[in-house]
Amino acid sequence: MARLLSVNVGLPRDIEWKGRTVHTGIWKNPIHGRCRAGRLNLEGDGQGDLRGHGGEQRAVFAYQIESYLYWQRQLGRPALGDATSFGQFGENFTVEGLPDDQVCIGDRYRIGGAVFEVTQPRVTCYRVGIRMNEPRMAALLTSSGRPGFYLRVLEEGEVGAGDEIVKVGEADVRMTVSQINQLLYLPNHSHDLLECAMRIEALSPGWRGSFEALLRNPRAGNAGLMPEAAAHPAAPGFHRLKVMSIDRESIDVLSITMQAFDGQPLPVAQPGQHVVLRVRPDPAGPPIFRSYSLSGPVSDERYRISVKVEPHGVAGRWLRDQVRAGDVLDVSSPRGTFILKDGEGPVVLLSAGIGATPVLAMLHTLAAAGSTRQVSWLHSARDREHHPFAAEVQGLIAALRHGRSYICYSRPAPLDKSSVDFDAVGHLTQSALADAGIPWDADVYLCGPTGFMADMKTAMAVRGVPPSRIHSESFNGSEAMSPGVTGAVKRPPHLPEGDGGSGPLVSFARSGVAAHWDRSAYQSILELAEACDVAVRWSCRSGVCHNCESGLVSGAVAYDPEPLDRPAEGNILVCCSRPVHDVVIDL
Ligand SMILES: Cc1cc2nc3c(=O)[nH]c(=O)nc-3n(C[C@H](O)[C@H](O)[C@H](O)COP(=O)(O)OP(=O)(O)OC[C@H]3O[C@@H](n4cnc5c(N)ncnc54)[C@H](O)[C@@H]3O)c2cc1C
Ligand code: FES
Repeated sequence: MARLLSVNVGLPRDIEWKGRTVHTGIWKNPIHGRCRAGRLNLEGDGQGDLRGHGGEQRAVFAYQIESYLYWQRQLGRPALGDATSFGQFGENFTVEGLPDDQVCIGDRYRIGGAVFEVTQPRVTCYRVGIRMNEPRMAALLTSSGRPGFYLRVLEEGEVGAGDEIVKVGEADVRMTVSQINQLLYLPNHSHDLLECAMRIEALSPGWRGSFEALLRNPRAGNAGLMPEAAAHPAAPGFHRLKVMSIDRESIDVLSITMQAFDGQPLPVAQPGQHVVLRVRPDPAGPPIFRSYSLSGPVSDERYRISVKVEPHGVAGRWLRDQVRAGDVLDVSSPRGTFILKDGEGPVVLLSAGIGATPVLAMLHTLAAAGSTRQVSWLHSARDREHHPFAAEVQGLIAALRHGRSYICYSRPAPLDKSSVDFDAVGHLTQSALADAGIPWDADVYLCGPTGFMADMKTAMAVRGVPPSRIHSESFNGSEAMSPGVTGAVKRPPHLPEGDGGSGPLVSFARSGVAAHWDRSAYQSILELAEACDVAVRWSCRSGVCHNCESGLVSGAVAYDPEPLDRPAEGNILVCCSRPVHDVVIDL
């Protein structure tokens, strides 16, 4: 007979961890007496990070005394399993007799006055590692096949330690918690088992989505876990490309067109993707890496980039002053996830300044395909002198059946002509979007300075465009994800304190910073990225969840610990890897 040994609750609290503040509900303590199990929580319980934990599907977390005793032996911790230790794994219910390799998703249990249904295994997260003082804990729980499981509350009611756990129903399709856990996190995602899992109605939507992704894309690493930011991986390494022409597009933007040195076809980009250039402005210094969106038509013969030369910009000035037709540049394969999606509906290409480059490639693609979609080109520039691609865009818009453009100049020069060079004075604003007639059902592709993108996202929301239809590219590094970390001061990427060792050089291409690997200071490339304030996404920090999966532009890494499932070819997991020699990472 299965039994509820302990009911454990705790509200989120702030704790100090590696010099940061983490808001977490992982600390649970046994309660005396009975408590109410509600649809979202046990009474007196809460989760710190509702994106990763909690909610209807993950209202109550259960962990078994048998697993406590397993970890007691494995970790050499005699106190694990004492009544005072209950709640250690962040569980609400410490149970006896519901092993992960027997309990199935969809099993229903009456406990006290409430009825519960098993929805999914534990979500991997670094916070259980903090609680257990064992950083590998997230990986160990998953790889051991003892993750524990979440329960949905079917009937609310009171529960208490000592209650019997009575099985009252089960799903038609029988798959255990261990099997489901293994199917997502370990290699060999059997097609048959995935299809079987999809037939379990009680499986939570999050896991269902991951299994759907694995079924759609069985070969690209672990598609069930790969974050959007790491989709479309590209082969690492650089191509030697010959500069064919250099063209001035405006007072501070020049285009560089390159083709393969050896005449071999180039990897074809998807419209909106960028390449990474390896340049060496200081011949005595290390190379530096800069990302540039491809701005021309997609082609396997040539790439065109368009570079804004900043007054003190190292790479931009070197490209302008030193590079000439006939020179050779080192250029990565195209990468990135800012890509024009197929569809029939309206498209809005919305940019400011040099942010025009990736959306221009999209405009080329739409024009080349003779698209009948409604295409709106909206661009904000200072004046005619600072307005690149004006004639090129006009030609492409004219080639489209339903194309139109709307240009704002913030400070038009006296000779700039209204209705010829530009449509409105000022910045693109909410009312300018209304003037331009932006449809609410458009797919919007947005690129420009950070403030501009924030304003445009707000303006689009006001027009009723759902966030899922707004796709944006930032030229200032990636989006960070650090679940539960609060109050961290955001600084631009920088060299870490005391950099200058002789270890391999780790270059973060999007952030424009390169730092030396110091094996005594960092456990992983993730820790080095954090020391540089490079924006990075992570969750388990132990090679399970793939949230930290990032593009490898060049070089090689070694894993320690080995990830449970390898990332896609061309990507790495930064939380458990170290550079073998110099590496360039798309962060
Ligand atoms: C995905 C992606 C796509 C991109 N696409 C493009 C593109 O299509 N075109 C493009 O031009 N850029 C693009 N970028 C940005 C590009 O990678 C570079 O970051 C940018 O061109 C600046 O590089 P830089 O070496 O010329 O300037 P850096 O030397 O890196 O300088 C960066 C900024 O700091 C300022 N600065 C530097 N030194 C000083 C100083 N001593 N005093 C005051 N200010 C200083 C510079 O003026 C500049 O504004 C993209 C970036 C990403 C991540
Ligand atoms: S943070 Fe989970 S795999 Fe790296």
